[in-house]
Amino acid sequence: MKVFLIGFMGSGKTSIGKKLAHFLKYDFIDLDKLIEVKTEMSIAEYFVKYGEEAFRKLEREVLQNTVYPEKIIVATGGGMPCYFDNMDWMNKNGITAYLSLPSKTLANRLENSKTERPLIQGLKGDELVEFVTRKLAEREVFYNKAKFSISAADLTAEKFTGYLNSTG
Ligand code: S3P
Repeated sequence: MKVFLIGFMGSGKTSIGKKLAHFLKYDFIDLDKLIEVKTEMSIAEYFVKYGEEAFRKLEREVLQNTVYPEKIIVATGGGMPCYFDNMDWMNKNGITAYLSLPSKTLANRLENSKTERPLIQGLKGDELVEFVTRKLAEREVFYNKAKFSISAADLTAEKFTGYLNSTG
């Protein structure tokens, strides 16, 4: 089974993905990390040097051209499902799970996160909440195409596995 974790920045795709992979004895890949290894620069540096449009093309290429092991949990970047045919591609090639959280919770997590994220650089407080609320509303059109929609609040690997098993 190939499981693609999708959701907004700060929804915990990487952290729950690692736990889930450990629990199921699956491999784990973080596509953002893979991009950083391939380009030998951080995503923030890539945005500055080549811009968002180039990043989105690269993201698609890495998603769709990586050879995945049969048992894999894939954490994806927050914007990735919303560009090109990426959402359809993931639905064709694996099981998609949307990790959802309210925008206030996301904004709060992002404000306390140490990860550099180019889209929200310099935003905090009400401005950040507004940005997340607007962007999440746009993106949910795509996220809602996932096979599973799972609340990321208090999510454990055991609970997640229960969802995956619920439809066989
Ligand atoms: C992005 C999310 C980031 C990363 C890039 C753009 C986005 O990944 O791909 O900074 O457009 O939401 P995370 O969701 O892992 O933060």
